[in-house]
Amino acid sequence: MKRVDAYGAEYEALSGQNKHLRVLLQQLRGARNIEDPLGAYRLSCETLRELSDYVRTYFAEEERLMLEYGYPQYHAHRREHVNFLETVLEVEEAMRTGEELTTPGFFCDMVGDWWEKHALGPDQQFAAYLLANATAAA
Ligand SMILES: [Fe+2]
Repeated sequence: MKRVDAYGAEYEALSGQNKHLRVLLQQLRGARNIEDPLGAYRLSCETLRELSDYVRTYFAEEERLMLEYGYPQYHAHRREHVNFLETVLEVEEAMRTGEELTTPGFFCDMVGDWWEKHALGPDQQFAAYLLANATAAA
């Protein structure tokens, strides 16, 4: 029973982080609608930085739970996180050097698409595994 309670608290924490990431993504998408290119660029950069920091915390927490609960797909799931963070770093660098100044929309689409796919696929699979394991241990 204790593990179910622990799972519940951990799952709630992950869900809360996931919701915050969605807010950041909406903010990033919203930056596209700002008519002033410099304003759009600044908001994109700020949001991207926050999202990048936040997503690292989220991934680390998710990966910690995977190890704790012996998730068999840990390596494949973690590889998706690593690949995503590498892309984020590339885009951050491109934005820092001004390459992405005129196309922040590319990043919004890329991040949004990846997140939808990841959240609906691997993250849901892990949540189901966690629930099954926590229930079995009860
Ligand atoms: Fe994940």
